[in-house]
Amino acid sequence: MKLVRFGVSLEDVLLARFDSYQKEKGYPTRSKAISDLIKEALVKEEWAGHGSVAGTVTLIYDHHRRELVNKLTDIQHDFYKTIISSQHIHLDHNNCLEVVVVKGKPEEIKSLANKLKSVKGVKHSALTMTTTEKETSGCPLDKE
Ligand code: NI
Repeated sequence: MKLVRFGVSLEDVLLARFDSYQKEKGYPTRSKAISDLIKEALVKEEWAGHGSVAGTVTLIYDHHRRELVNKLTDIQHDFYKTIISSQHIHLDHNNCLEVVVVKGKPEEIKSLANKLKSVKGVKHSALTMTTTEKETSGCPLDKE
C-alpha cells in the first residue's frame, strides 16, 4: 500500500479544535489522527453491514454462581462458529473475567454479546468492535 497526499479545506475554528484533539490524544501528526478517524468511521460502517467483522466480548461475573457459569457456557456453545477463542481469568476470590474473541457477521456477534450480557449475575460486559481488515484495507484481493 502506498501513501497518497491530498488537500483538505476546513474552517479555521474546526482545524484549531482538531489540532488540540490531536495534541490531547498524543498523535505525532495530523495524518495519523485523521487516518484513525477515517478508519473508525469505516469500521462503524462494517459493523452496520453484513460482511465479516472481528471483536471481543469481555465479561465480569460472579464466580460463585454455578448456574450462571453453565448458562454462559451453553450460550457460547450455541455460537461455536462465531467464537475463535476465549480466555478465563480468576480476577479475585469472587470475580471472573472472561474475554471471548469473535469473528463473523455483525448481527451474529451482537446477538451473542446481548445474550451473554443479559445473563443474571453478569456484572459488566463490553463489546469491542474492530475489523478483520478485509474491508478497510482497500485491497480488493484481500476480500472474501
Ligand atoms: Ni474464575
